[in-house]
Amino acid sequence: MREREIGTALLAWYDSHARALPWRIGPAERRAGHRPDPYRVWLSEVMLQQTTVAAVRDYFHRFTSRWPDVAALAEADDGEVMAEWAGLGYYARARNLLKCARAVVADHDGRFPETSAALLTLPGIGPYTAAAIAAIACDEPATVVDGNVERVTARLFAVETPLPNAKPELTALARRLTPETRPGDHAQAMMDLGATICTPRNPACGICPLRLFCAGHASGIATELPRKLAKKPKPTRFGIAYVGTREDGAALLERRPERGLLGGTLGWPGSAWTEATPAPAPPAAADWRESPGAVRHTFTHFHLVLTVLTARLPAGSNPERGHFVSRDNFRPGDLPTVMRKVHDLASRALLTD
Ligand code: ADE
Repeated sequence: MREREIGTALLAWYDSHARALPWRIGPAERRAGHRPDPYRVWLSEVMLQQTTVAAVRDYFHRFTSRWPDVAALAEADDGEVMAEWAGLGYYARARNLLKCARAVVADHDGRFPETSAALLTLPGIGPYTAAAIAAIACDEPATVVDGNVERVTARLFAVETPLPNAKPELTALARRLTPETRPGDHAQAMMDLGATICTPRNPACGICPLRLFCAGHASGIATELPRKLAKKPKPTRFGIAYVGTREDGAALLERRPERGLLGGTLGWPGSAWTEATPAPAPPAAADWRESPGAVRHTFTHFHLVLTVLTARLPAGSNPERGHFVSRDNFRPGDLPTVMRKVHDLASRALLTD
């Protein structure tokens, strides 16, 4: 059967080319009997959603040094976890991470369930993450489909249906490739192949272990696949951010509500973000001055342009919104990227003032 030959060729390649990743038990270690730690697999998979391996490495090291197991994370302070997550984006993942750790401790004796079906019942664990943990940590022959796997599969079987419509077809094909033995290594091999050889723009077909099986390569269309429906252009929204600092250096910050974009993160108070000119919303009465330039940031569904206003607030300032964070406790690195950009712009403006 072709699928079996593909699987064998892929695992043979993985045995000699697997990437060394901090959360991974490589093929040689697995053969020596080492098992992946479900906590580390779960944490890495949540971090890797929408984010690259390169961006995740340092975060993963910091998280696992600070919270080495699920019990430690379950006891962590919410604000500290949000601060460690700052910069990784998609902050609902961090909030769900805590909910999930607490559910594992409260409902599962501190041990991750060992089937994809049971994992799916946990907060923040969807079909992708459940399948990835079950395959990698528990050797369940679950089919793991991320963007890399979609691309490899679309090329291997020359699927010309555009994404996202092609998802069910690609999942079904990926399922046919999933072996009963070593399903976790198979899943990771598909991801590694997609990340290192079967790359979006310039796939290295000449050194691909699956070249001889690849229908996309045979018809000379591999690079064009997967096809994608044209995306809607992103609208631009506008907003105002207020960087208020007290005479003693304390910064006026505000935690956003749990729900919604950047939910639960710390940042500068501001206006609503609207496609029309935003209504001013200063958090305290002060002489607010506009910093030259603007902050630009792109979210999944829109571009944002923020005007930055700065003011010195008096010692007895009693703002309507937010709270003061002392100079010693304020770390710009604890803010999400857009709010860090606001801080950078305001600092430049204040320096040149
Ligand atoms: N991307 C997402 N999960 C991954 C994993 N387990 N290994 C490599 N790349 C990945």
